[in-house]
Amino acid sequence: MESNKVAVIGAGLMGNGIAQACASAGYDVVNIDTFESAIEKSKAAVEKLFSRKVAKGSMTEEKKAEVLGRLTYSSKFEDVKGAFLVVEAVPEKIEIKKDTFKKVDELADAETVIVSNTSGLSISEIASVTNRPDKVMGAHFFYPAPVMKLLELVRGLVTSDETYETVKGFAEKIGKTTVDAPEFPGFMVNRILVPMQNEAAFMVMEGSKPEDVDNAMKLGCNHPMGPIELTDFVGIDTMLATMTGLYNGFHDSKYRPCPLLETMVKSGMLGKKSGLGFYKYDEKGNKIGSNF
Ligand SMILES: NC(=O)c1ccc[n+]([C@@H]2O[C@H](COP(=O)([O-])OP(=O)(O)OC[C@H]3O[C@@H](n4cnc5c(N)ncnc54)[C@H](O)[C@@H]3O)[C@@H](O)[C@H]2O)c1
Repeated sequence: MESNKVAVIGAGLMGNGIAQACASAGYDVVNIDTFESAIEKSKAAVEKLFSRKVAKGSMTEEKKAEVLGRLTYSSKFEDVKGAFLVVEAVPEKIEIKKDTFKKVDELADAETVIVSNTSGLSISEIASVTNRPDKVMGAHFFYPAPVMKLLELVRGLVTSDETYETVKGFAEKIGKTTVDAPEFPGFMVNRILVPMQNEAAFMVMEGSKPEDVDNAMKLGCNHPMGPIELTDFVGIDTMLATMTGLYNGFHDSKYRPCPLLETMVKSGMLGKKSGLGFYKYDEKGNKIGSNF
């Protein structure tokens, strides 16, 4: 389809960053969200970020105006019309994803490819509610989307080669390196990363100090952040949900979630965001000691 337009559905944490990355790469972007408040917040965040870049000298005023000129916002799904690609980044709930795909399928041009940024829901299930399952696939970005280089490409059971090539071409244009990830829980990165964090939690449960576990991986493997620090950073509830998804999805005991994580979540210890996780944090989010 001859078009330079990309529609991004959802103007939250990920949709905002994806829209930015697309506009910066030269696409005409419409960022669609059902909530006006989300649109206003997203607009303000991009403005603030770009103004900071200009102040620091890493972006010119002209470039800022050029990119912002390509980035529009809307609360109407009808605005997917004319886009060769729709990137969905609405909340990680299967009913919301299906509802969104149904609407986009009805309103987008027949040739438009629709991708989901889901972190782990089934692409084939999402595609099944559309009349174009061959034109649906997964494109999993990482946070923050404009900065992180990786894009996991996830084909559904009936995704066509043409769709795959369209999305791969798009990924190259926005400067991402792609990997082909299987349509199974965790895709590629989370399937490797999260069990490592889970194993680290088991070690703390067995009596190892969080600092020792983190230093082992930072100094022994050159990881920029230890697995326990990382769990506190992303949220213990979020990490536990991903681990539980692997366990339920593969029906394999090797993915059993660490019971300490479950106890911590039940008691409200969610990591940095709650001020208490494996480590303790002050009001500004600075680490002030260990909790174990
Ligand atoms: N946060 C991350 O680090 C991360 C990383 C990779 C992938 N993801 C995935 O990206 C997707 C979005 O996550 P997020 O963190 O940006 O969530 P978020 O809550 O920040 O944003 C979701 C946005 O969707 C909007 N929304 C809700 N219902 C809608 C609807 N029916 N139609 C249009 N917009 C609607 C909300 O107003 C909100 O702005 C999820 O599938 C998530 O799993 C998240």
